[in-house]
Amino acid sequence: MIGVFDSGYGGLTILKDFLKELPEYDYMYLGDNARAPYGNRSTETLIEFGEQTVEYLFEQGCTLIIIACNTASSNVLRHLQEKYLRKPKVTSRKILGVIMPQVEAAIKLSRDGRIGVVGTRSTIESGSFDIELKKLRTGVKIAKQACPLLVPLVEEHWHDKPEAKMILKKYLHGLKTYNLDTLILACTHYPFLYNDFCRIMGKNVDVINPGPVVAASLKDYLSRHPEIKKELTKKGGRIYFTTGDPEKFQAMGSEFLGYQLKDVRPVDLNKVKISS
Ligand code: DGL
Repeated sequence: MIGVFDSGYGGLTILKDFLKELPEYDYMYLGDNARAPYGNRSTETLIEFGEQTVEYLFEQGCTLIIIACNTASSNVLRHLQEKYLRKPKVTSRKILGVIMPQVEAAIKLSRDGRIGVVGTRSTIESGSFDIELKKLRTGVKIAKQACPLLVPLVEEHWHDKPEAKMILKKYLHGLKTYNLDTLILACTHYPFLYNDFCRIMGKNVDVINPGPVVAASLKDYLSRHPEIKKELTKKGGRIYFTTGDPEKFQAMGSEFLGYQLKDVRPVDLNKVKISS
């Protein structure tokens, strides 16, 4: 089973493309809605939440976990891989994030190596995208902007309103002076404003849509790792867990996923015992 972890609803924008690209697998989605948003949380807190979630998903039978949340990927992915997969070495399980697929896509697309990154405050401050971009291309020029108001605007269904477009324009104003050729949307919620990002940045900037890029990367990863692929069950099952209100998750989640969600269950991650 493939576990998909996010702070709340946002990861459903990634799961949506997994279901399109790799529909045959069983998926277990976990949204930590009760403790969302993650965007302004400290690394220590995100580590605690990440450990609880990963232990829970492994316990439930997931062998591959995708951290669909950019904030969690940026701040805790390395820690989780180190703790659960390297000491001692575990080869039948994997934890992947969403940074590398987006970074690789940006490097491939970028003509002049002038790349922008937008995300939550914690993602931008972590420097996670800068580190990986610099590893793949020397001399890359990076410009970044935290856009903390966009997540609540999307969750309040305000992303189509003129106020949201005005705020986005203000956030992107500085980035536009860098003569960028590529922009990474390093937040699960920003695809709701994809057309506005493209319009405001202008025709010379390629804006990367995270869902299709992460799904294509997962497909490629599985084709290269038969040892992980063979551990995955294929009954087309989908189970959704939320630390928040399952009814609310069902309603809101259906909007994020684009169709009616079924089988939403509550989970209390505070009860998960963290191994040392
Ligand atoms: N899922 C988060 C991300 O991609 C956005 C929502 C939040 O701040 O919790 O960074």
